[in-house]
Amino acid sequence: MNEQPLQGKVAVITGASRGLGRAMALALAEAGIRVALVGRDEAKLAETAQGISALGGEHAIFLADVSREEPVDQLKAAIHDRYGSCDILINNAGINLRKNITDFTLAEWNSVIDANLTSVFLMCRAFVPGMKGKGYGRIINMTSIMSHISLPGRAAYSSSKAALLGLTRALALELASEGITVNGISPGPVATEINTAILNNPEANAQFVAKIPVGRWGLPEEIGKLALYLCQPEAGFITGTDILIDGGWCAA
Ligand SMILES: NC(=O)c1ccc[n+]([C@@H]2O[C@H](COP(=O)([O-])OP(=O)(O)OC[C@H]3O[C@@H](n4cnc5c(N)ncnc54)[C@H](OP(=O)(O)O)[C@@H]3O)[C@@H](O)[C@H]2O)c1
Repeated sequence: MNEQPLQGKVAVITGASRGLGRAMALALAEAGIRVALVGRDEAKLAETAQGISALGGEHAIFLADVSREEPVDQLKAAIHDRYGSCDILINNAGINLRKNITDFTLAEWNSVIDANLTSVFLMCRAFVPGMKGKGYGRIINMTSIMSHISLPGRAAYSSSKAALLGLTRALALELASEGITVNGISPGPVATEINTAILNNPEANAQFVAKIPVGRWGLPEEIGKLALYLCQPEAGFITGTDILIDGGWCAA
């Protein structure tokens, strides 16, 4: 029996410099997957790389703003030079701007849509051709509970994440016959930098925790383990769906 069925596969993970991207990179590397760490902050990406080295894993760092076409095309060429192609693509990079809709400038609105949605289009357009023809492939898009429900001040974020769920379903249908699954992971609140404003505000923090039936924030490692499961061969029948990992928030 092959104990490490994922050994040697190549995963491209965007937003691997911290938070959920880092946790997924560590989880995949521990299973023997070679990880291409993508982000804009070289020093932070190096911290992720150090963690992977400590586990005996393999990694390489690639700097790119994945919300823009030219850097993604350059990233594709760089990853092609290093690995040929990838087997797993995790579209995790994302931002949140919490404002009421009338306070958004068009540039701010576009920045959220570009980082959370257009980046996934650009990454899939760049990497899907190389993933075809192998009979195995995994695309994981970081959706959110905000793909399913919303809160005041989340117009741009919710719009981008709901659209990302639509993109996930459409792409799953396009790639199903190739053995490439495409799924969303929708976390509820996880204590990472994207939530600093809430974590640092005791009142907002308490209101948030009160909305989570299990009564705590999620852990990045919990997202890492779920992503690793979706990469396993036995997860090949899961496609075109979205997995909530939210402590019960959306069940309420
Ligand atoms: N934490 C949560 O509660 C939660 C819940 C639901 C969904 N999510 C989603 O999960 C994903 C990861 O979030 P997180 O909690 O780990 O947030 P985070 O700690 O703020 O990390 C965001 C990551 O995205 C990268 N990034 C942002 N824009 C980028 C761009 N244009 N090009 C390249 N990299 C970019 C950042 O890298 P730089 O170093 O380049 O800035 C960073 O590595 C996001 O898509 C987020 O929407 C998070």
